[in-house]
This record gives sequence, structure tokens and C-alpha cells, in this order.
Amino acid sequence: MTILVTGATGNVGRHVVDQLIRSGARVRALTRNPATANLPKSVEIVYGELTDPQTLVPALDGVTAMHLITFNGADSAPLQTGAEIVALAEKAGVRKVTLLWNGERGPVEEAVEASHLEWTHLQPPVEFMSNAKEWAESIRSEGVIRHLNGQVLSAMIHEADIGSVAAKVLMEDGHAFKSYTLTGPEVLSIPDKLRLLSAEIGRDIQFVELSAEEERTKMRQAGIQEDVIEYVVGWYANPPEESYLLLPTVEQITGRPARTFAQWLAENREKFI
Ligand SMILES: NC(=O)c1ccc[n+]([C@@H]2O[C@H](COP(=O)([O-])OP(=O)(O)OC[C@H]3O[C@@H](n4cnc5c(N)ncnc54)[C@H](OP(=O)(O)O)[C@@H]3O)[C@@H](O)[C@H]2O)c1
Repeated sequence: MTILVTGATGNVGRHVVDQLIRSGARVRALTRNPATANLPKSVEIVYGELTDPQTLVPALDGVTAMHLITFNGADSAPLQTGAEIVALAEKAGVRKVTLLWNGERGPVEEAVEASHLEWTHLQPPVEFMSNAKEWAESIRSEGVIRHLNGQVLSAMIHEADIGSVAAKVLMEDGHAFKSYTLTGPEVLSIPDKLRLLSAEIGRDIQFVELSAEEERTKMRQAGIQEDVIEYVVGWYANPPEESYLLLPTVEQITGRPARTFAQWLAENREKFI
């Protein structure tokens, strides 16, 4: 049984690959850049471009289950080629698929749900712990974080927990046609996160709270598009309840508590020093 992981070089995909290997699966990883994929030796790395589905034919050969991203490129635009990908997957004999949530239903979800594939949605309506990497440079250079609305609470999730859930779903029966909403084990404000970060690296970190206009200026200087800026500012002004509501799903499926932010920081300490 070969399991194909798309998005395998991404924040989540690397953990899906790792957790599948730990569970003894034969893993094939899809990437547009095999030369720079930097994945474990036991992984078979294959070229594939999800916007050009015919390139997936060799990657799907012999595959019975697959982890499928639902977005294209760095800006997370919904992938439009869902119908073609699903048709090729069914033809190749794929039976089961996990779908990584992109914030809303798009062409991939629609095509998978209309197919004969056994699908499972993995929905983290919370931020990934890896978003903290965005702070690394200003912590290293100035020991400061500047951000809008520090009191906003987040049930952030360790990407390895998404990987652990994906591996269970792909390798066990009993998860077909279910949507799993996944969160971390604790709810943290930005000052809470900085206290943990500070303890991990042994250095004080100052938090400077920005106004909405100051946040817009910061994001414009970082080259972020206006629609994304407005989305972020609006989200921080009125965060949806699901972004800070704790759920036991990770533990229920994996049999172990969801990983903490302190654990993520210990694993990623060198990025901040
Ligand atoms: N960050 C958050 O807080 C958060 C929270 C909830 C949900 N999400 C969702 O999570 C997803 C992002 O996951 P992530 O952080 O793991 O992604 P990521 O680190 O940005 O990685 C993107 C991966 O997708 C692959 N990829 C992108 N376009 C492709 C294409 N056209 N063909 C083949 N491969 C393609 C890339 O592979 P190569 O470059 O190697 O080809 C890369 O492995 C988005 O849908 C986002 O909406 C994010």
C-alpha cells in the first residue's frame, strides 16, 4: 500500500510524511521541486503540479490512499482542478483521501464528495503554531514583537497533530465521510505566547501593541496584498469563536493529548536565537 502525500514539503505535509513513516507506511511525496524537497530518505519523491493534473499520472500509480491539499501556491488560492485530480485518482485505484482545509469549500472538496472516494476532512479553524516563525526575525534582531490586538485568544495547533490525525485516518478504518475539527490543547493570547517564547530562549521579549492603522502599515511594508491586510485586520477585530474554542478531537483520534506551544517552541528554538 503506497500513500501519496501532496503538499509534502509544507508546514503540515512534512508532518503527514513523518507520522506515516512512523506508522510503517510506504510514502510517496509530491512536489514541484524534487531537487530541493529535503524529505526523509525512505520517502519516494515524485514531481507533480496539481494545476496540471496529467503530471500526476505517474505519482498516482499504485496509490491506495492520499493526503490532498485543496489550495494552489503560496497565497492559498483554492485549487481549481479538483474534478480532474479526483478522476485520475479513482482511475488509479485510490480508495481513501484526507483533505486539508483551506478555510472554505472549493472545487477539490466538491469533486471528492461527489466521487466514490472515502474522504475525511481535516479542519483546523485555528492558527498553526508555525505562524510564530513570522516573529523570528524581529525577536532575533530587536527582542520585540509588534502586533495588533494582543488579547485575541487562539487555540493554535501544532502541525504534527494534523499529521498524526492524517496518518491515523489514512491507515485505519472508521474515518470515512467524517469532518474532524482540530485544535491545540490550550488557548493563548499573544502575551501568553511571548512568555513561553521568552522562557524557551532565556531572553525578555517586548510586546508592542499596534493600532489597526499601524498594523496595516506594517503589513504594507512587508509587501502583503490589500485584501489580505483587510482580512487580517477584520479577523483580529472580531475573531470567530471557533478560533479559540478547544476541542478534544486530536486526543480522541490519536490517543494522546494535543501537543503544546511549549513543545513546538522547544522543537523550533534555534529559529528565535
Ligand atoms: N497557517 C495557518 O494558520 C492555517 C490555519 C488553518 C488552515 N490553514 C490552511 O493550511 C494550508 C497551508 O498549509 P501549509 O502551511 O502546510 O502549506 P505550505 O507550508 O505553504 O506548503 C505548501 C505546500 O503545497 C505544495 N503546493 C502548493 N501549490 C502546489 C501545486 N500547484 N502543485 C503541487 N504542490 C503544490 C507545496 O509544494 P512544493 O512547493 O514542494 O511543490 C508545499 O509543499 C492552506 O490551505 C491554509 O488555508 C492554514
